[in-house]
Amino acid sequence: MTTVEVLDDIEQERREIVSMAREFAQKELAPHAAEWDRKAEFPAEAHRKLGDLGFFGMRIPEEYDGLGLDMLTYVMVLEEIARADAGVAISLSVHNSLPAHMLCENGSPEQKERWLKPMARGDVLAVFSLSEAGSGSDAQSLRATATRDGDEWVLNGEKAWVTNGDTADIALTMLRTGDVGDDARGISCFVVPLHREGVIPGKPEDKLGLRDSHTTTLAFNDVRLTDEHLLGEEGMGFSYAMAALDRGRMGVAAQAIGIAAAALDHSIRYSGERRQFNKALREFQAIQFKLADMATRVAAARALLHEVAREYDARGNTTTRASMAKLFASETAMWVTTEAVQIFGGYGYMRDYPVERLFRDAKVTEIYEGTSEIQRVVIARGLSGSSA
Ligand code: CAA
Repeated sequence: MTTVEVLDDIEQERREIVSMAREFAQKELAPHAAEWDRKAEFPAEAHRKLGDLGFFGMRIPEEYDGLGLDMLTYVMVLEEIARADAGVAISLSVHNSLPAHMLCENGSPEQKERWLKPMARGDVLAVFSLSEAGSGSDAQSLRATATRDGDEWVLNGEKAWVTNGDTADIALTMLRTGDVGDDARGISCFVVPLHREGVIPGKPEDKLGLRDSHTTTLAFNDVRLTDEHLLGEEGMGFSYAMAALDRGRMGVAAQAIGIAAAALDHSIRYSGERRQFNKALREFQAIQFKLADMATRVAAARALLHEVAREYDARGNTTTRASMAKLFASETAMWVTTEAVQIFGGYGYMRDYPVERLFRDAKVTEIYEGTSEIQRVVIARGLSGSSA
């Protein structure tokens, strides 16, 4: 086979999986997204079906029963899912981008065998737990602890804002194993089984958006684990979490682009149907210019993300540019959904119309997995070494 034929094959496979994701998302997610949002209901059945299709193993290698997709295909699939339901997209993104990557890169052979296979099938939902009430952007300041007691580790403290903290099975959790006041080297990562004595998930937070993915606290009350649960080396948990967030930020960028693209689709459709002053809204130049700017920003965000994903597939390490993709895509999502609400006018402000939900869903992409301000810190630090 020539290189061109191999590339054609990869492209063909990519198109097939992205179109399967689009079909599933439009048929199984989009018609229910508004109701799940209203009821703040975690769509367990939709998650099960996504598991059957292999989407919980998108970034897990085939030897562990995953699909082993490259980053570019993965972000394209996430965009399709987010276009229909951004809450489901974040479940997939957290599971694949954070715990799956951390286990693949830092897990022992036993840990990979134990966790990656059921994660790939969607039988085990994995989440990521770094933040605490007093430790958000300053992630190094976390205080929940894992203390050695003979052969065991004893976990105590409370984590915050854990995506799917009440529905997940395991949480890759950053805990302080050194003294409080130690730097990043005092933090280790544990694979914490969540159906275990002493693990207490809080009630789902009452959130502005992404209401069908639950966000909870996770309290640890003398939870006993062994070295089997310690991921990689003691004291390396902060670095593992930061490296995972480089991938996670590409996932959030894809989610943001999906939200923005959905808002654009709705705006194009609505502005063709809605008539004022005897004309369709789309015949007014004021609306045409809005649609043109929205489409241009979505295309630019997507092009940047795809370039960063290709770079990751070719070379790995993309810290600075992953932050650029996340920053630009999330600010695009907020801007585009704001314009969409404006085009819908009074209707855009009502729960009955989809752009109101998209506007609410967009906001968190500027906050989680690192605020826009933190992305600018990461980008600016990266610039001191070389140009973008
Ligand atoms: N990859 C690997 N290692 C990294 C790294 C990276 N991208 N970035 C930093 N590190 C390592 C450093 O090398 C350093 O290691 P050594 O001590 O061995 O030298 C260590 O981590 C500390 O690095 P810094 O001194 O740069 O750390 P800092 O305290 O200045 O923090 C920060 C940097 C960028 C501000 C970081 O704290 C950060 O990203 N904050 C935002 C946190 C965040 O994104 N939280 C999201 C939580 S998850 C979530 O949103 C919920 C969800 O489920 C969706």
